[in-house]
Amino acid sequence: MAGYTDMVFRQICKQRGAGLVYTEFVSADAIVRHKARTMTYLRFEESERPVGVQIFGSDPQTVALAVELIAEKFQPDLIDLNFGCSVRKVVKKQAGAALLKDLPLLQKIAEAAVGAINLPVTAKYRMGWSPGQNVAVEVAQRLEQAGVVAITIHPRTAIEAFKKPADWKVIAAVKAAVSIPVIGNGDIKTAEDAKRMLVETGCDAVMIGRGALANPWIFQQVAELLQTGIVSTCFSPSDKVLLCLEHLQREAELVGFDHATRLMKKFYGWYFRGIPAAARIREQLVRSSDYRQTYQFLISLLK
Ligand SMILES: Cc1cc2nc3c(=O)[nH]c(=O)nc-3n(C[C@H](O)[C@H](O)[C@H](O)COP(=O)(O)O)c2cc1C
Repeated sequence: MAGYTDMVFRQICKQRGAGLVYTEFVSADAIVRHKARTMTYLRFEESERPVGVQIFGSDPQTVALAVELIAEKFQPDLIDLNFGCSVRKVVKKQAGAALLKDLPLLQKIAEAAVGAINLPVTAKYRMGWSPGQNVAVEVAQRLEQAGVVAITIHPRTAIEAFKKPADWKVIAAVKAAVSIPVIGNGDIKTAEDAKRMLVETGCDAVMIGRGALANPWIFQQVAELLQTGIVSTCFSPSDKVLLCLEHLQREAELVGFDHATRLMKKFYGWYFRGIPAAARIREQLVRSSDYRQTYQFLISLLK
């Protein structure tokens, strides 16, 4: 998730049971131009493996060049193509979810990526561009034909963004239509949701986005539920404060005190969601622009 799944957050999830993590998505154009800042998004540590790199682009040749460069320089375990992002700066370049309006081009991009490297290429997409449009099965079949080895479907249209609930029936239809692994995505907030998606849709794996921001322990809870039938591990507000402290400290080591203090502000709303006094805690943390002050405030919550 752009803006969130940096090295520190990925490791937090990995240490709590995530089976596969992805770097923040990058533009194929920027990769080909060797944009220094873009390259920093692609760095990961060996302990994160298996790790995927996600890219977006609208030109098959550029995407092929970009995946070649990434494969050579970073050697991730897989490269994922984004056909789902509905953010303006991506779709105005005819990339991300905009490609759901041009399926032959989407397929050419996938073929170009698959043909350029020996690494597995996967893809993630939304069910269509505008409300009422459902090209999920056609896209899945085209991606399979292109040689993509697994797909993730987020069953909402681009225009809907996050407004309506994800339509899990679409995941089931996709699963029935292709033989490559299908990863279901959308609205998994608890371990029970994950199990329900697996059972209801028959998908091979689930991908968790926002649910992990609110509860990075969700991955181990899913594993526990699937293995034992129950979730015995639950996490208290103090556990969340301790996690915030760890996250803040590790970001500071990676990007420096000031940047870490700023960067962490977007996480607090998620981390403290649903706990008593969440709004007051978040407000205090967002107001502070001093690392030490933020740290002390978090410590005070443990007393
Ligand atoms: C802040 C944010 C950033 C995201 N960035 C990406 C991204 O870079 N690539 C991508 O494929 N999906 C991205 N997504 C979409 C999620 O991967 C996921 O498809 C969506 O949030 C639905 O799943 P969820 O209900 O588990 O969050 C992002 C979502 C959010 C909320």
